[in-house]
Amino acid sequence: MGSIKIEGLSKSYVNKRAKKRDINDPEKAGQVIKVFDDINMEFEDGEMVCILGPSGCGKSTLLRIMAGFDRATTGKILIDGQETFKTSPDHVYVFQQNGLLPWMTVWQNVELGLRHIEDEAEKTETIQEYIDMVELTGFEHHYPSQLSGGMQRRAELGRALAVNPDVLYMDEPFTGLDYLTHLKIREEVINMHSFIGKTMVMVTHFIDDALIMADRIIVMNEKPARVTMERKLNFSRPRNIEKEPGLRELRDEVFMELGVSYVA
Ligand SMILES: Nc1ncnc2c1ncn2[C@@H]1O[C@H](COP(=O)(O)OP(=O)(O)OP(=O)(O)O)[C@@H](O)[C@H]1O
Ligand SMILES: [Mg+2]
Repeated sequence: MGSIKIEGLSKSYVNKRAKKRDINDPEKAGQVIKVFDDINMEFEDGEMVCILGPSGCGKSTLLRIMAGFDRATTGKILIDGQETFKTSPDHVYVFQQNGLLPWMTVWQNVELGLRHIEDEAEKTETIQEYIDMVELTGFEHHYPSQLSGGMQRRAELGRALAVNPDVLYMDEPFTGLDYLTHLKIREEVINMHSFIGKTMVMVTHFIDDALIMADRIIVMNEKPARVTMERKLNFSRPRNIEKEPGLRELRDEVFMELGVSYVA
């Protein structure tokens, strides 16, 4: 299952490059970089949530902590009510960059998450289905270095979707895709979500993607980041921002919240 609760989460780094004026008090000496502080969030099982915020506010850090790849400085993550610090095979993460294993082909990369399938025919069929879905048919035996940036993103998404995870964390999954592929894969992710209803948490810079895809959006501000806006999106799907005045208004609001008021 995939309900997630974040309680009082904070993350700080010690800036090792700062001058050691007061070794005993790193905060006083300006050595501590506080990325975010006292973050509280809840994600319902099956919910699709998009997190927006300026570059460097800690979105990737937050997602990494939720997925168990990094530790918070304070606070906790509860998955289905249980405090957790670890990664889980049922929780899949699509990285912002270079998530594929470079020494494995596209096929082998997709196969990685499907080792539990014992029936070889079923496994082969599933791998091929997802490779076809992300339009990499014919590139099964290519290595990541032999693919364009966009193709690598698609391979990564195919690998993540093939696992059919309880929770899918996606860190700017459409970055590097050409416009049409972006729209197409976005559609695939939306379809997959409405079909299997698994929890998805996606970090994105694309406000339109968040408005088209999410059940709820969360906006964070500059670091030390806090949640500054949170909205449920009770709009039917498929959504068209231009045809839905409520979504257009919300888009303006998000732009304002992110400090680009001239767009609104
Ligand atoms: N290893 C590190 N050491 C020190 N500070 C770090 C480290 N990693 C991240 N940070 C700090 O954490 C902040 C948040 O980084 P993060 O990658 O989470 O931001 P982001 O919101 O995902 O940005 P973007 O939108 O550009 O991907 C950075 O601004 C940086 O100051
Ligand atoms: Mg990031």
